[in-house]
Amino acid sequence: MYHQTIVKPNSEEVAIAATEWLIETIKECIAARGQCSIALSGGSTPKRLYQLIAENESRSVDWSQVTLVLGDERNVPQEHVDSNYRMVREAWLDRLDIKNHPKSMPRVYPVTMDTKSPERAALQYERQLRQVLGNQDSTGDDRDDRDIPSIDIVLLGLGDDAHTASLFPETEALKETNHLFVANFVPKFSAYRLTLTAPIINAARNVAFLVCGASKRPAVDVVLHGPRHPDEYPAQLIEPKLGRLWWFLDTAAAAEVVK
Ligand code: 6PG
Repeated sequence: MYHQTIVKPNSEEVAIAATEWLIETIKECIAARGQCSIALSGGSTPKRLYQLIAENESRSVDWSQVTLVLGDERNVPQEHVDSNYRMVREAWLDRLDIKNHPKSMPRVYPVTMDTKSPERAALQYERQLRQVLGNQDSTGDDRDDRDIPSIDIVLLGLGDDAHTASLFPETEALKETNHLFVANFVPKFSAYRLTLTAPIINAARNVAFLVCGASKRPAVDVVLHGPRHPDEYPAQLIEPKLGRLWWFLDTAAAAEVVK
């Protein structure tokens, strides 16, 4: 498995490096297949990356060929302050200069929330993901798992407890092998989250973790070096089958654990 680790002195440098990488990777995907799909993460480092893209405008990318989906979502309406979609909109989409030119905008697919029935919302989003991403392999590169769409780029954070997306320790979604997107009850929040599952993340062409801060160091260590207990450390489930895996870390999160 292709695996690259990039360590920068602080979170701002991590966001800058990840932004440069993202722009290059989007261009590479568009050059190869004419389009690029990205699953977005919540969290503080991705948020800075979204702001940097908006600030730099990134005019070198043909955004009309880019599709944005949500990698995970909180079980709240789209306008709620905890909504990941709201964060993405405020940090990135609302600030794009090209917002007055809809044809140059990425296509964005937020989760249509149904807070009373997160399962129904997740199922509906899974259908939408299959529709939106389903034909992206039509140029026919040689991949397995034809019924699992290959997202071009999945952005991920990592929690202190080694959760990623909304795959939290000891939760049902970790066992999922059929569904691509599920509602996941998280006991420590007494709340549902909605999340991509490991099989679709592992079918992606590029997966990037963005992780900053000393509190993440033990999680980084155990995810990269074991012992392997994915029920306890869900980010260990992320092993792209054919895709490339990237870790963007600041020195506080990496310390001596990145060898
Ligand atoms: C979310 C995320 C989640 C996040 C981690 C790390 O919805 O919050 O998708 O998985 O990435 O909790 O968050 P920070 O980068 O803010 O520490």
